[in-house]
Amino acid sequence: MEVAEVTAYGGPEVLRLAERPDPSPAPGEVVVRIRATDVNPTDVGLRAGQHPMARQLEPPYVPGWDLAGEVTAVGSEVSGYAPGDRVVGMIPFGRIGGRVGAYAQAAAVDPAWLAPMASDIDDPTAATLPLNALTARQALDLIALPAESTLLVTGASGAVGGFAVQLAARDGYRVLAQASTDDEDWVASLGATEVLPRSTDLATIGPVDAVLDAVPLGPSSTASLRDGGIAIFTRPPGAEPDRDLRFETIFVQTDPDALRSLATDLAEGRLRSRIAEVLPLAQAARAHELNEAGGLRGKVVLTP
Ligand SMILES: NC(=O)c1ccc[n+]([C@@H]2O[C@H](COP(=O)([O-])OP(=O)(O)OC[C@H]3O[C@@H](n4cnc5c(N)ncnc54)[C@H](OP(=O)(O)O)[C@@H]3O)[C@@H](O)[C@H]2O)c1
Repeated sequence: MEVAEVTAYGGPEVLRLAERPDPSPAPGEVVVRIRATDVNPTDVGLRAGQHPMARQLEPPYVPGWDLAGEVTAVGSEVSGYAPGDRVVGMIPFGRIGGRVGAYAQAAAVDPAWLAPMASDIDDPTAATLPLNALTARQALDLIALPAESTLLVTGASGAVGGFAVQLAARDGYRVLAQASTDDEDWVASLGATEVLPRSTDLATIGPVDAVLDAVPLGPSSTASLRDGGIAIFTRPPGAEPDRDLRFETIFVQTDPDALRSLATDLAEGRLRSRIAEVLPLAQAARAHELNEAGGLRGKVVLTP
């Protein structure tokens, strides 16, 4: 099968196509023919050698967390999946030390990383869901405040922030959502109570009960928090709070039940996602360049 591998830590050009043996399922695994994966900031940071995992993971390796495709083989001791089933999934790339990646035509995976995907959602759209919607869901579960509480979401034009706005609005929060430049209409359409232009001084809003700092901006995102408030960061903030606040960092976990629920939300139109560009796997380097340049309105998707 064809994969895109990171051949050394460096710029996007270190991503090259390679041939690897077709995977076969060990007991307790299924093989998925991957039809789409997407590029996430963690893929880019690791490839550049800027992620702590770079100290342990020796190139060449196949990157990639998210996958959408179909089951082609089922190992012994697996129930619930059969060849031909459409699935989405999140490879817990960090937790398994980069042993399996999604920039590949196929992968042997633990079925607990997967959920069924309805046939009316295309593979590129499905592939944008798992990592970032699970992160948003798990961050909101950490916040766990009563309905009507006020939540600031930074980076709401991005993947984690966009899912967080939609899920938080449905949970009953008053959501103040920070949009990227000229992207206010999209963020408003996700159900934000109030859309904040990117230029907004976050110290001038609120007070808010919680911050989901998806960008992440770090402790500077918390100026609007009331005393006793909670901030969830998507990367360790590197500082302790200097007043009565709670700081937590989210580290996404696989969760088949939550993923199944999110996949149903996507299929039934309760969650929306957007795609900036769909490229063949051979253009993985180009996909990383686009991600690094920023300013995207949606994910860059690769179709292996
Ligand atoms: N810890 C975990 O488990 C976990 C899981 C998933 C993701 N993450 C992390 O979460 C972060 C967001 O991921 P993502 O996939 O949502 O990325 P994304 O789709 O690229 O979204 C990031 C958003 O933040 C905006 N942004 C960047 N700098 C900003 C700034 N200074 N002020 C305001 N907005 C800014 C970007 O807008 P422009 O492009 O227009 O600048 C973009 O819309 C990444 O750091 C990722 O690695 C962590």
